[in-house]
Amino acid sequence: MSTYIVDDPRKVTTHRLLEMKAQGKKIAMLTSYDYTMARLVDQAGVDCILIGDSASNVMAGNVTTIPMTMDQMIYHARSVVRGVKRALVVCDMPFGSYQVNCTEGVKNAIRIMKETGCDCLKLEGGVEILDTVKRILDAGIPVMGHLGLTPQSINKFGTYSVRAREQAEADKLKEDARLLEEVGCCAIVLEKIPAQLASEVASQTRIPMIGIGAGHDVDGQVLVVADMLGMDQSFSPKFLRRYADLSTIIQDAVGQYVADVKSVSFPNDSEQY
Ligand code: KIV
Repeated sequence: MSTYIVDDPRKVTTHRLLEMKAQGKKIAMLTSYDYTMARLVDQAGVDCILIGDSASNVMAGNVTTIPMTMDQMIYHARSVVRGVKRALVVCDMPFGSYQVNCTEGVKNAIRIMKETGCDCLKLEGGVEILDTVKRILDAGIPVMGHLGLTPQSINKFGTYSVRAREQAEADKLKEDARLLEEVGCCAIVLEKIPAQLASEVASQTRIPMIGIGAGHDVDGQVLVVADMLGMDQSFSPKFLRRYADLSTIIQDAVGQYVADVKSVSFPNDSEQY
C-alpha cells in the first residue's frame, strides 16, 4: 500500500487553490471521465479532477474535441462527481456551448452545474470570451481559464504544435491571462507554450497557472489520466511522463483470461457455485 501526499484532507475549493499558490504549494490535477477512475485518482491525492472534453479522444475515439456535446459532458461529469470526495471537480464546457453568445453560455454553464454537481467550469480562450466568462462568474459559478494550445480551436490553428513562440501571440497570451484574472477566474490552464513564457505569466498573476507542456515554473500540472498511465502507447508528446504501462498490463491480463477460458482453466472448482 503506497502512502499518498494529502497535506489537507478537507474538500479542495477554488479558495484553497488561491491559498496554495500564495503558499507556494504545487497543485496536482488529472483528468477523469468515469466513476471508477475518478475514485482512484481522488483517493491517491490529486487536488483537482478535470472532466476534460478530451473524453472525446480518450473515451469516444474522436480525432478532436469538437464533437463533444453538452449531454455527453454532463454524463461524464455526473459519473466523476459520484466518485470524488476531496478533489475540486472541474468540468470543461464543450465546443459550441459558450461561443455563440453570453446568454447561451450562461444557460449552459448553469445547466452543467445543476445537473452534475461539479465545482467549477473550464472555458478555452481569452478576450474573445471574456464577457461570457464574466457573466458566468456573475451567476456565482467558478471559472478556470485555458490559454495557449486550446484544442477546441484546432481547426483554426491547423496543428497541435507549441503555441505563443512568436512575440505577438505571447503578448496576447499575457494580456488574456491578466484579463481572466481581473474578471475573477480561479486558475488558468496553460497548454503547450514555452516554459519561459509560462513562468513569466505565473509570476505576474495571483491566481494559479496550471501547466500541461508549459514547464515546471508554474503553480501546478495537469495531464490526461489515460496518457500518464500509458494506456495509449502511440501518443508520446515531449511533455508527457508515463507513470505506468497500463496498456501492457491490461493486454497481458486479458490475454491470460482468453487463454484460461479456452483451456477451461477458468473457472475452477472454487470459482463456481
Ligand atoms: O480536455 C482536457 O483534457 C484538457 C486538458 C488537456 C487540460 O483540457
